[in-house]
Amino acid sequence: MNGKNTQSKNFVVVFAVFERRFFLYTTLLNLGGIMKNKEYEFYESVKNWDFSMINYEEEFFTNWNMFDVLKKHSKNGSRILDLGTGGGEKVLEFFPNNVEILGTDFSSAMIETANFNLKKSGRKNIKFRVMDNYKMDTELEYYDIVVARNTCIDPKQIYKTLKKNGVLIVRGVDKLDCWQLKRMFGMGQEYKDKMPTSLIDYENILNASFKNVELIPLYVKEYYKSKDDLLALLYKVPILDYFDTNKDKIDMDLINKYILENTCEKGILLRRRYYGIIAYK
Ligand SMILES: C[S@@+](CC[C@H](N)C(=O)[O-])C[C@H]1O[C@@H](n2cnc3c(N)ncnc32)[C@H](O)[C@@H]1O
Repeated sequence: MNGKNTQSKNFVVVFAVFERRFFLYTTLLNLGGIMKNKEYEFYESVKNWDFSMINYEEEFFTNWNMFDVLKKHSKNGSRILDLGTGGGEKVLEFFPNNVEILGTDFSSAMIETANFNLKKSGRKNIKFRVMDNYKMDTELEYYDIVVARNTCIDPKQIYKTLKKNGVLIVRGVDKLDCWQLKRMFGMGQEYKDKMPTSLIDYENILNASFKNVELIPLYVKEYYKSKDDLLALLYKVPILDYFDTNKDKIDMDLINKYILENTCEKGILLRRRYYGIIAYK
């Protein structure tokens, strides 16, 4: 009788632990889903990645330029895949003409804009279509170069779609990007993350069996010509509020304080921190 009681007690304890784990697991999965939906909705509402209306100038402290690296690696007829292409703005302006290009994005609104921009450009070597970077359905061993600029990646899937000796070129936003501003607000992109995305990408690329992987820190100073130019950036890019479309929350007293402390003759200074990665299959 006693043994039976202990057995059923053990069962209850085991079940409670299992149920708790299961609850935590499903909660985490749901949170991931909510985050992803929020990001998806954000890009669906933004619809393009065009900053031509913002008046700012850049000062580069490091000379690694993703588009130069891309040009150096592309040959006549190279096949290039651009992941998270946005409205195709960068592809249309900076990618070579003598190559075959596919630009993909999980947001159909972005792809709509990209196709609109493509038509206007008259370029014939580019196609755009919807694809999730985490559910890539591109051909195996097909591409010479995969580019991912400021978007998420799954290096194992990228490895499969690259030809032997193919190249992966990444440019991302690092944890310390706009750090003074994020510190002032106590929030923002990667502000509370323990591990920066640059290191996560680097580790995942190494784990996916890529060779000769280089992680390059990129330092840029940006000078915004007016408060409106700075605000236009912060309203559009999830620097302060991570994929939150409700921009009314941006505290204007703090913005004014930041501007007061960071204005020089060139404009309002933002210290940008990016990273580049180059890796070979
Ligand atoms: C910051 S924008 C960068 C756009 C472009 N690469 C550039 O550098 O101008 C990020 C883009 O990645 C896309 N994106 C985010 N998560 C994605 C995912 N899981 N799969 C495909 N695209 C994604 C967004 O829709 C958005 O267009």
